[in-house]
Amino acid sequence: MEKNGFSLTALGTAFMRGFHARNDNPILFNDPLAYDLLTDRERFLIAEHLIARLKSIDPEGAAACGDETSTVKRALELCTGAAVVLSRARYAEEALRVAIDRGATQYVILGAGMDTFAFRCPRALTRVEVFEVDHPATQAFKRERIRELGWNIPPGLHFVPLDFTKGSLFDLAAHAPYDPTASTFFSWLGVTYYLPRETVLDTLAAAARISAPKSTLVFDYLEPNVPGDAKAAGRLKAIADSLKELGEPLRTGFSPAALATDLAGVGLHLMEDLAPPEIQRRYFADRTDGYRASDHIHFAATAGGEPPQPGLPSR
Ligand SMILES: C[S@@+](CC[C@H](N)C(=O)[O-])C[C@H]1O[C@@H](n2cnc3c(N)ncnc32)[C@H](O)[C@@H]1O
Repeated sequence: MEKNGFSLTALGTAFMRGFHARNDNPILFNDPLAYDLLTDRERFLIAEHLIARLKSIDPEGAAACGDETSTVKRALELCTGAAVVLSRARYAEEALRVAIDRGATQYVILGAGMDTFAFRCPRALTRVEVFEVDHPATQAFKRERIRELGWNIPPGLHFVPLDFTKGSLFDLAAHAPYDPTASTFFSWLGVTYYLPRETVLDTLAAAARISAPKSTLVFDYLEPNVPGDAKAAGRLKAIADSLKELGEPLRTGFSPAALATDLAGVGLHLMEDLAPPEIQRRYFADRTDGYRASDHIHFAATAGGEPPQPGLPSR
């Protein structure tokens, strides 16, 4: 992010969701608007980059693809985290719907990137206020793109710029119309990987403290030591190398065995930890294309639980 100001991975994940909505079948996560948030030039450059990667990893497979769309599709299946991006978005919005039915009135999208929920699901905004919290540079980029596209910002959508490494999510509590006593659903997708461990835990602690008990938070995380582990899956190592090139290296992982304890320490109760085999069974079992769950990446759901242990910063 330092190199370009805004997050290039946020553009990459938007491409993955938008391309999938337009070109794959069956649809795992239907987000055609994500494509619209990218310019023709950005889509061209991302496609070009993907095709080049496929050619270097699987030249014969690339040559066998008949046209550009099938080459990009093959590249997304083989050389990127597209399957993770699609399935985590599906997981989060499935959990969001359950939370809304149980009374959540706020949806906080942490590290929102090019998330389009507020534009895709306008009816949901009659039931929840949506807060997009993101790095100031990425959020400014997105807001400018929305302005260029002429999209109207719905009254229920609120933008909160925050660098998790410099400020605190506690500040959201004072951001009108956020209500710290309301039942709230938080999603935090594709972000914990890039932050220092203490920042992840401080942000989780803040989420627990600025929301009603039993509020829910879902996030995805990487098992520890994967980028440096020679035994880690080849595909994930290739993704890690590519993220490093983009200036957004993978930094932090969590041990599944210790996750419940880590979360209890910040006032959250681990409700669910989906490991790759379960993600595969839930979202990819019936697919005949190359999308499949990524080794070493989990999806977790938490609820506000016991008060945090002493020693953590208080509001
Ligand atoms: C890979 S993108 C994920 C975007 C979106 N959640 C998704 O799933 O497509 C990473 C996001 O994390 C945000 N991010 C990275 N570092 C951050 C930081 N220090 N503070 C706030 N946001 C950060 C980026 O701005 C970007 O929106």
